[in-house]
Amino acid sequence: MNLVFLGPPGSGKGTQAKKLAEKLGYVHLSTGDVLRKAVKDGTELGRKADGFMQAGELVPDELIIGMIEELVSAGALKNGFILDGFPRTIPQAESLDIMFEKYKIKLDKAVLLHVGDAEVTKRLLGRAEIEGRADDNAEVIKNRIEIYKKQTAPIEQFYRGQSILTEVKGEDTPENVFEALLKVAK
Ligand code: AP5
Ligand code: MG
Repeated sequence: MNLVFLGPPGSGKGTQAKKLAEKLGYVHLSTGDVLRKAVKDGTELGRKADGFMQAGELVPDELIIGMIEELVSAGALKNGFILDGFPRTIPQAESLDIMFEKYKIKLDKAVLLHVGDAEVTKRLLGRAEIEGRADDNAEVIKNRIEIYKKQTAPIEQFYRGQSILTEVKGEDTPENVFEALLKVAK
């Protein structure tokens, strides 16, 4: 099964995608993780992305789409994958459809994790204490939530229109969310 995970920052995309990928033998591709590594390694992509990420803004579509195209053409997406954090805008979703058509990949489901603003804020402030991610501070978290609503939430309707949107309650224990996701991801 080939999936994309949607949901606001802190909704549990990374936590759950990692566990599901391990359990089901899927590939887990997080654009946030790829970008954070690029920043750490000081690559050209990392240098261009850094400021946007620190401010909680989206990295421009052309950079992200180019990055994904490179990964897909290099065979990074074997059958059975979870895309986490991509697509995040309508142009990214449209480009992904075109890429999938070109590489004969079928997207089975877009899985939306529902978690409210108060809970995601609490989780991300909690993670700040542990991981110290540069964008986990109150001001930037607020911006990331706003950006999700404005720029990313419209793709929920995009996938609903393709009849592949599956909605899952993400405000529950990690174990219960995992069980719910396992049912839709198998
Ligand atoms: P990205 O890395 O994708 O961050 P994000 O969307 O803000 O989401 P997070 O990774 O913060 O949250 P998550 O849903 O993965 O939650 P997690 O499982 O970690 O993107 C970062 C930046 O990169 C963007 O702002 C942008 O600049 C750039 N970027 C990336 N992709 C891009 C794209 N396609 N286009 C443009 N720019 C892009 O969980 C969060 C915390 O909650 C953890 O501490 C976890 O332990 C805890 N937790 C998880 N589940 C539960 C639960 N059920 N109960 C309690 N706690 C829980
Ligand atoms: Mg994540």
